Amino acid sequence: MAQEPKLTEQEGHMADEKPESETGCKDTGGDGAENLLEIKDLKLDLMSVRGIIHALNGVNLKIRPGEIHGLVGESGSGKSMTSKSVMRLHNEQRSRMSGKILFHGRDLLKASRKQMQAIRGGKISMIFQDPMTSLNPLLTVGEQIGETYRQHEKCSKAEAKKKTCEILEKVGIYPPEKRALQYPFELSGGLQQRVMIAIAIACGPDLLIADEPTTALDVTIQAQILELLKKLSEDMGMSVLLITHNFGIVAEICDRVSVMYAGKVVETCDTKTIFRDAAHPYSRALIASIPKTGMNVEYLPTIPGSPPELYGENKACAYLPRCSYRDNRCLQAPEMKSCGVGHLAACHHLQAQEAEKD
Ligand SMILES: Nc1ncnc2c1ncn2[C@@H]1O[C@H](COP(=O)(O)OP(=O)(O)OP(=O)(O)O)[C@@H](O)[C@H]1O
Ligand code: SF4
Ligand SMILES: [Mg+2]
Repeated sequence: MAQEPKLTEQEGHMADEKPESETGCKDTGGDGAENLLEIKDLKLDLMSVRGIIHALNGVNLKIRPGEIHGLVGESGSGKSMTSKSVMRLHNEQRSRMSGKILFHGRDLLKASRKQMQAIRGGKISMIFQDPMTSLNPLLTVGEQIGETYRQHEKCSKAEAKKKTCEILEKVGIYPPEKRALQYPFELSGGLQQRVMIAIAIACGPDLLIADEPTTALDVTIQAQILELLKKLSEDMGMSVLLITHNFGIVAEICDRVSVMYAGKVVETCDTKTIFRDAAHPYSRALIASIPKTGMNVEYLPTIPGSPPELYGENKACAYLPRCSYRDNRCLQAPEMKSCGVGHLAACHHLQAQEAEKD
C-alpha cells in the first residue's frame, strides 16, 4: 500500500497580526484601487494515495470593494480550491497551504479557528451550485435563516423571525411569512437558491463567493438569480467572487475577470478587455471557443490537449504543451506582467502576440 505523504498543519494567530495597510505595505490593484481581498502566491497541496497534488500553484487575485469578479477556467483549474482556501474549508490534516489571503488587510491563513468561524457566514459567505446539498432537509427555511442571525448576531428568537421575513423579501421570496414555514423540498430549485442567497447575505457580508450558483438551474431562472446577485451587490456594496464556466455570465454581470489554468491565475482584467484584448494564449483560446451570434461554422475551435496532471514539480509554463507560441523561454514559468491599466497576464510572449493582432 502506498505510504501517505506527511503534511504540516497551518498555524498562527490572526489577532497578533497587523493589517498590511498599517505596516506601510498596502497594495492596490495596480491602478490605484484598494482591495477588499488580496490573495498572494497561494499554494495548496492536497494529500492523496497517489502522492501530493499541487492543486494551487501560486494564485494571485485581487478583489475590490463592491465589484463582481468572475473566476473562469477549465474543469480542475483550481477555481473551487481557491474559494475554499479563502473560507479555510480544507481538511487541515490532509492539506497544506502557503502564501497570503489578505481580507481587509489581515491574513486569513493566520486566523485562529474561532476567528474563522466568525468570518465565515459573517464577513465572507459562500453559495454553491446545488442548494439542495447545502440546505438542511429537516429544518424549515425560516429556521435555517433564523439560525444565522442567532449565531452571528446573537438575536432573540422573535428578532431572528422578523429579520428572516425581511431578508426573504429582499431576495424576492413572497409571501415571506408563509415561505419561512416551508421545508426546502417544497420549493423549486430557483427558490432554494434564493434561500441560500438569503442565508449567505443575512449578516451583510463584505464578500460573497458564488461557486457556479446557476449551473443547476434552467436559463430563465439563471437570469433571475444573476440579476438578484447584481442588485444585492449594488444595494449592499458587497463584492462577489463569481465562479463560472460560462463567459456569457461574465459578460452579463462581472466588472472584472480572472482566468485560471493549472492552479494559477494567468490573466486578470476588466470584462470588456477580456473579450476584446485577451492577452494570454489560453484566455484567447477560451474566448475563441465561445459560440457567437451569426457564426456559420461546422465546428467550434477547441483547445488541443488537456490540462496537466498536478502531481510533481513543474518549472515550465503549465500551458506549454498546448500552446502554439511556445519556445525555450517557456521552460521557465512566466510571472504576471502588466499589459495595460489593471490588466495583468503571465506569458513570455505577450508582445509577439500583440504584434500578430496588429
Ligand atoms: N477531493 C479531491 N481530492 C484530490 N484532489 C482534488 C480534490 N478536489 C480537487 N482536487 C484537485 O484540485 C484541482 C483543482 O480542483 P477544483 O475543484 O478547484 O477545480 P475547479 O476549477 O473548481 O473545477 P470545476 O470547474 O470542475 O468545478 C483538481 O485538478 C484536482 O486535481
Ligand atoms: S509562456 Fe510560452 S507556453 Fe506559456 S502561454 Fe506564454 S507562450 Fe505559451
Ligand atoms: Mg469547482
